[in-house]
Amino acid sequence: MPIRPAARITDTSPKNFGMFAKAVGMDGDLIHLELGMPVEDTPQHIKEATITALRAGAVHYSDLQGLPHLRAAIAQKLQRQNGLDLSADEVIVTNGLTQASFAAFMAFLGVGDECLLLAPYYPQHIGKAELAGASVTIAPLDAANNFTINRDLIEPVITPATKAIALINPCNPTGRVFTREELEVLAEIARAHDLLVFSDEVYEEITYDGAEHISIASLPGMRERTITMFAFTKAYAMDGWRLGYIAADAELIGPCMKIHTNEVTHVNTFVQHGALAALQGDPSVLEGMVSRDRTRRDLVVGRLNQMPGVRCALPEGTIYAFPDISATGLSAQDCADRLLAETGVVVEAGSFYGAAGEGHLRVCFGCAEVEVLTEAMDRVAQFFNGL
Ligand SMILES: Cc1ncc(COP(=O)(O)O)c(C=O)c1O
Repeated sequence: MPIRPAARITDTSPKNFGMFAKAVGMDGDLIHLELGMPVEDTPQHIKEATITALRAGAVHYSDLQGLPHLRAAIAQKLQRQNGLDLSADEVIVTNGLTQASFAAFMAFLGVGDECLLLAPYYPQHIGKAELAGASVTIAPLDAANNFTINRDLIEPVITPATKAIALINPCNPTGRVFTREELEVLAEIARAHDLLVFSDEVYEEITYDGAEHISIASLPGMRERTITMFAFTKAYAMDGWRLGYIAADAELIGPCMKIHTNEVTHVNTFVQHGALAALQGDPSVLEGMVSRDRTRRDLVVGRLNQMPGVRCALPEGTIYAFPDISATGLSAQDCADRLLAETGVVVEAGSFYGAAGEGHLRVCFGCAEVEVLTEAMDRVAQFFNGL
């Protein structure tokens, strides 16, 4: 008899890798615009600080919650940049945002709880909520209204079992940066229904044209009911480093620590020195990277909007465009499949992020150089022109 895995494995939806899984192993001249993997290199000063730390012997176990001087620098950044009055003890350094959200979901969701996702959602949140024993409910935001946070679409989905809402701001896949007014609506809902908010802010640094990223935990009455999660992943092009952090009130951070230490003990010691260098580095390095993302965004969105049947709102943040292709009559999945088969350009179907994303594609513009994006847009234009 084969040994059966635990029910939490058999009862959890399999993780779906979408178009990436379809494209892997395919021959041909593929252009990958389906993954949120920055094309930029990690800035040199971050690498140097890490190498120096490694040479100096930062190779042993260290503080379980994260290096104290890194957590102190994070707490200063939270005050300065996010308006969050949290101390270094209210921060846990994690293995990317993925492990931050795993610790948070495991710490606060359990059997019988519902976790509400705003759709289009981030598919990883489903598996995590289910692994924690909870189920997921979906509040679909409206494409026709540019995926605005709307009380009338969210409140009907809330039940007595709803324990938490997962927010992604700036939003992958839509590229929205939620306004203060929208976040106030969500905060009001959370307070009225006594909900926890998991706020995934992995794209906080990547905003354009003055769009202001606001941490929902900074709104009145939200500090004690929000677990905010950040990472060095996207803005500093440190996706392979696996570095992020949880920031939350002491009452919320304690349970997360229990999962964190059982799961990983702590994050790799020497890479944390790189994180410190990222926070303390010259801000113009980050500005340069975001400015190049903006150039890539303008190229891709400009080209998409010239294609027949395609309409693309300008992303306010993130590294994704979310064009509406519904006028072509193709479903999102058919369109993504045909683009792969007929042009070799790999993009994600909007429906991968829930039914609310139907009729859209997610095109990552932050994962390729301008010349590659230009070639991709030439091929995609030919496809839409030929429909
Ligand atoms: C919304 C969102 N959350 C979390 C992650 C994962 O971040 P990390 O690589 O830091 O674990 C991603 C990566 O694409 C993301 O888009």
